[in-house]
Amino acid sequence: MSANLRKVLTRSLYGSRRCLSSSAASNFVRIVDVSPRDGLQNEKAQVPSEVKLELIDRLTDCGVQTIEATSFVSPKWVPQMGDAKDLYPQVLAKYSGNGRSYPVLTPNAKGLEGALAAAERAGRPLEEVAIFGAASEGFSKKNTNRSVDESFKAFQEVVEQAKKSNVRVRAYLSTVIGCPYDGATDPQLVARLTQRFLEMGCYEVSLGDTIGVGTPSTIERMLSEVMKSIPADKLAIHAHDTYGQGVANVLQAVNMGIRVVDSCVGGLGGCPFANGATGNVSTEDVVYALHGLGYQTGIDLNKLSYTGEWICSKINKPNGSKAGKAIITKLEKAKL
Ligand code: HMG
Ligand code: MG
Repeated sequence: MSANLRKVLTRSLYGSRRCLSSSAASNFVRIVDVSPRDGLQNEKAQVPSEVKLELIDRLTDCGVQTIEATSFVSPKWVPQMGDAKDLYPQVLAKYSGNGRSYPVLTPNAKGLEGALAAAERAGRPLEEVAIFGAASEGFSKKNTNRSVDESFKAFQEVVEQAKKSNVRVRAYLSTVIGCPYDGATDPQLVARLTQRFLEMGCYEVSLGDTIGVGTPSTIERMLSEVMKSIPADKLAIHAHDTYGQGVANVLQAVNMGIRVVDSCVGGLGGCPFANGATGNVSTEDVVYALHGLGYQTGIDLNKLSYTGEWICSKINKPNGSKAGKAIITKLEKAKL
């Protein structure tokens, strides 16, 4: 699709009421691959740190711009991320300054302190962290042991300290379509909480369909409400693929002007505190669809497909990416 045609379509589909921004006309979609964090956090067997580091290495080599490296959360809550303080200095020492971003989750002041200490050990600056809240009380309590309001108090501390340390803060807002405990989410609440994160000083809010119940229609309804007051270039979409709607939901968001998409190779992932949620939308499937529409991601899809296959084999999971599997089959046949 030409840039002009895309512009015309975007305008005619989404009218002037929405806060479109210059990003809406951009041909580049930034992929935030969250496999080393969201992709692995729910794995019961401990994934060796060397495997996590190789995953980050491979994703970097594929051309992924942003790779979420790990979480500084309580190891009692998420044991899989318990190696963050040893792993993250190695990540920063190797990649810091390469023009990419390797953010980590920091839900509270203690998490930020851990990330800053890791950066100090690496002798490199901490550039970016992410905080995560929810648009439903049930999930907020299960995920962070705090009500929505209480969690925002903890985030305020993180953002203030991060500002002093020159660290960029991204925010996640989970359960933007539905919550496993509270049911359907009100789009107006999503808009208000997104605004709250931005007013606090976060540079971007990733809207999470944590349990993957969204469809293009409910994503459209939610984004229409949010985009009445918030420009597309402050937003990202984070789709889980429980009902097989992940790619369709991502494309709906991209059609509405969003240019940042979270995903996981091999369709890995899930949150330990979101009952019934399965993996994230697969990065390979998203990149295949985006490239097919004429968008650029800077990602080598062949290498990405082998990366998804590789990590799935390392953790004994079937590869959840249809595009990834098809590309590998084609490439292997061509070698014969
Ligand atoms: P809490 O138990 O209420 O915290 O947990 P606390 O302040 O009472 O502290 C309890 C213990 O945890 C203490 O240790 C603290 O030191 C320790 P103890 O004295 O018992 O030995 N602690 C920490 N340790 C390491 N790092 C920290 C930290 N904070 C406290 N940062 C807390 C509150 C938020 C920490 C906890 O609930 C937690 O870690 N939750 C983890 C939640 C999580 O990681 N969820 C998955 C990621 S979110 C997600 O997947 C959704 C997303 O993908 C988007 C989407 O899909 O929608 C982002
Ligand atoms: Mg998630």
